[in-house]
Order: sequence, then C-alpha cells, then structure tokens
Amino acid sequence: MTTNPNNGFVSGLEGVVAAQTRLSHVDGQRGELILAGYALEEVAPTLSFEAMVHLLWHDRLPTSVEVIHLHSELARWRALPPALLDLLQSAARTNRPAMDALRMAAGAIDLDLPASALDDGTLGHVLLARIPTVVAAYWRLQQGAAPIAPDPALGHAANYLYMLTGSVPNAARVRGLETYLNTVIDHGLNASTFTARVIIATHSDLVSAITGAIGALKGPLHGGAPGPALDMVFAIGEAARAEAYLRAKLEAGERLMGFGHRIYKVRDPRAEVLAAAARDLYAADGDMALYTLAGAVEETAVRLLAEFKPGRNLQTNVEFYTALLLHGLALPTDLFAPTFAVGRVAGWIGHAWEQIATGRLIRPASQYIGARGRSYEHADADRSHALS
Ligand code: COA
Repeated sequence: MTTNPNNGFVSGLEGVVAAQTRLSHVDGQRGELILAGYALEEVAPTLSFEAMVHLLWHDRLPTSVEVIHLHSELARWRALPPALLDLLQSAARTNRPAMDALRMAAGAIDLDLPASALDDGTLGHVLLARIPTVVAAYWRLQQGAAPIAPDPALGHAANYLYMLTGSVPNAARVRGLETYLNTVIDHGLNASTFTARVIIATHSDLVSAITGAIGALKGPLHGGAPGPALDMVFAIGEAARAEAYLRAKLEAGERLMGFGHRIYKVRDPRAEVLAAAARDLYAADGDMALYTLAGAVEETAVRLLAEFKPGRNLQTNVEFYTALLLHGLALPTDLFAPTFAVGRVAGWIGHAWEQIATGRLIRPASQYIGARGRSYEHADADRSHALS
C-alpha cells in the first residue's frame, strides 16, 4: 500500500474501506469469495442465474414461484426498441469493439420507456434483461447477420446463447454459462462497482450508473484479458512444450496471462469453480484434449512462477479458466468482456440499490500538491492572459 502518513493519501485507494455491502466478501489470504452469505463453490455451480440474482438482490434464496416471476419480468423486457438496434447497426458499420457498442447502447437502453415507468426496480429488470440482447445483436450485426429476437420461453443464460447462434443450447452449455455468470456476478468493491456507486450516490439514475460501470469495465486493467490466456494455451499446443515456452517468457521478463492477483495470494476461488465447470462442459460437449492441455499449462506455470518469483505467491486467477470455459461455449474472444458484463450487471445494480439506501454522497478529498503563494500582480507581462 502506498500511503502518506502525513495526510492520509492512499494511492489507488488500496485497502480503503469505502462501502458496506451484504452482497459479497473477498478474502484474498484464505482464497474465499462469499456471495450473500454462501460460499461461491456452493451456489455458483448449482443455482440458475435468475436464482442467483434473486439471492443477491433480496438477500435470500428464492422460492420457485419467485424464480418464475423474475424470469417473466426479464423475458418481458428483453427485446430492444428499433432505435437501439439502429444505433448498434451504425456502430457495426464502423466495426467498433463490442465493449464500445455496449457502452453506447447502455446509455440509450431505456429509450422507448416513458419516464413514469422508470422506477429503480423496473430499470434494474430492464438493464439486466437487455444487456445480453445488446451484446448478442451487436455480435450478429458485426458478422453481417440479422439479430435474433429473444425467446421468452428460455432462461436468461439459454436465451443469451440462443440470441448469439440461433440454436437452443443443450443443458451442459446452459449450465456452463450459468456457472460462469454466477461466478462473476459480484466481487467486492472492484473498480466498476465503485464507479456505479459513485454515480448513483449523486442521486443520478440507474442507467447512468450502469453505463459508467461499463466504461470502467472496458479498461484492460479491469475487464481483463482472458483472450491472451487462451492464446497462450493455443500457442503452447502440446503439454511437452509448456515448460520451454513458459520459461522463455519468464526469462524475457514477460508476465504469464491468467496468473497473479492483487488481492488473492492463494488460488483464486473463482478459478477453482470455473475449472470444474470447464471440465464438465468439455467432458459433455467439447475437446477434452484442450482441457487436459490447459491443466498441464497451469501446473507448469504455477511451478515456474514460484521458481522465478519466489515469495510472490503467484497463482491461477479467474481469467485462465474463464477463457477455457467461454471458449468451450463457442464464444469468440471478442465476447469475453461483454459476457462478463452480462453477469456483473446484476452485482452493479445490487450495489447501486445499497448505495441509494445509505443516502450518502461519495465525496472523498484530494491532497493539493500544486504551488502556493504565487502572486498574480507580479506575473510576467509576456504571459498576460489578455487576448491581443
Ligand atoms: N507473470 C509473471 N510475473 C508476475 C505475474 C505474472 N502473471 N504477476 C505478477 N508478477 C510479478 C511482477 O513482475 C512482480 O515481480 P517483481 O517484484 O520481480 O517486479 C511481482 O510479481 C509483483 O507484481 P505486481 O505487479 O506488484 O502485482 P500486482 O498485484 O500489482 O499485479 C496483476 C496483479 C493481476 C496485474 C498481475 O499479477 C498480472 O499482471 N497478471 C497477469 C495478467 C492477468 O492475468 N490479469 C488478470 C487479473 S484477474
């Protein structure tokens, strides 16, 4: 932590507690992630995404009637207004990255709704329901294909895959995606969640808060780059080449993608859950050889990181198995970050509601490090501010 004991400045706010939440707790020393009181390992691989959202938003597991109710609410709002599809079409013409298109569309997501309909509860459903539709529609437009209308009979995860491909996914794929979305749904006061809280704390609106959060997630230091982790596994190609490939990278001073974490000093618990989900998916519906290769790459990388960076405790992070799982779901790497947003938006909304309930503006202080005591009267005449 970079602190200045004289005035309390903490660079990057590291270690500063800036919110109270009942949504999730990250323990980096013990490698634990708690979601609304439950261990990640217990709920992420078992609950439907709708049930997980209900747990986060209402602090208790839903009844089956409540799951059906949430499903219907989301299905009701999924379709995008034509003007929003036009906007995505314009973005596709210039081939903007998917996260740019998502940021643009998020700000206009309530375009067709009268202001009177926009209470915070409704907006939460609209945002959660429409973000996957935006991502899928934009992806198809970029491929020169027509967007596929949402199917109200399908659950949230199944419908997302359906809108991307036009085929109803099998149960193994739906389970794989639900486990992924549940795993990334919330993670303490990360940068995008903090952004959402800062915006909503000014009594701005939920659409603004989520649009800002998407902007924060878009940055490569946050939304991460599971793509490069996957590229590395493909470049290695066979387990026997892992040691030489990874050793050469470390000798060249490069970082191994998918390893190391600011908070976790043991294996990221999300990596554990996603590895198991990827194994199940590949066993049911994929290339088991790729899964086995990834395991060999992981084992070699962790061993070499301990050798090259002793005492740093560099372990597998969430990105490594995210890449493998999403690849197994046939998602291209361009969709990895937007699919992260499809899950995380539920956490952002939950945090925004918590923040509204506190009624407290977030307004930290800054440390002035500029000059003092300058005299305007004695300023150099040549530098006069007057326009000539
Ligand atoms: N490969 C090789 N070395 C690594 C490493 C990695 N993945 N992650 C950290 N290190 C090394 C650093 O080079 C540094 O070594 P040094 O002290 O000899 O200079 C040391 O470990 C500490 O690194 P630091 O940058 O202070 O750690 P951090 O907590 O700030 O970094 C990450 C966290 C995630 C940015 C970092 O681990 C990283 O870049 N990982 C790879 C990218 C990645 O997977 N990102 C997704 C994160 S979810």
